[in-house]
Amino acid sequence: MIVKQIKVGPMENFAYILGCEESSEAAIIDPGFEAGKLLEMASELSMKVVAVINTHGHRDHIASNKEIVNQTGALVIAHELAKFTVDQYIKDREFFKIGSIMIETIHTPGHSPDSVCFIVNNEIIFTGDTLFVSECGRTDLPGGNNEDMYNSLVKIMREMPDNLIVYPGHDYGPTKTSKMGDEKMNNYTLKERTRSEFLKFMLEP
Ligand SMILES: [Fe+2]
Repeated sequence: MIVKQIKVGPMENFAYILGCEESSEAAIIDPGFEAGKLLEMASELSMKVVAVINTHGHRDHIASNKEIVNQTGALVIAHELAKFTVDQYIKDREFFKIGSIMIETIHTPGHSPDSVCFIVNNEIIFTGDTLFVSECGRTDLPGGNNEDMYNSLVKIMREMPDNLIVYPGHDYGPTKTSKMGDEKMNNYTLKERTRSEFLKFMLEP
């Protein structure tokens, strides 16, 4: 399995190339900007781009979908609540494959209704704008919801294994990746809180 983290655009976004070495098939995750650079990297890796996978539908994560689809014929995969052009809708706990790489969908609304995380081969997790290194995503954009974010963070705390390497949707933390176990210990948004404590916490500056 090949994972490349690529900083794209003006908003500290991370796009990713996820490649299967056995089949030489790859997915591009969250191509918000710089389609040309992402496609060039995939071709340097001798990978055929078969899918675009989006963690959610904000523009800075999907704006280059079209260009990549036009150039490669890739299928766009995203959550069933997505409001943009999608070829394959997925739902919570649904599995799908890129080559021989097994990907599990975890629905984590809060930042947006269609936000998902993806667990890959039980080794890594792409967390989109749900969880950053040392932070969680904002909930004050249209479709954001603090109660949903609380439930999603509790789901991450309780159900995501500590060994997963966290690959976030933006470079907002002190490091570009992290271990889920370290996030559970150190990320202040993942501290044990009741629902009402969390809702109060999210209203604090
Ligand atoms: Fe976002």
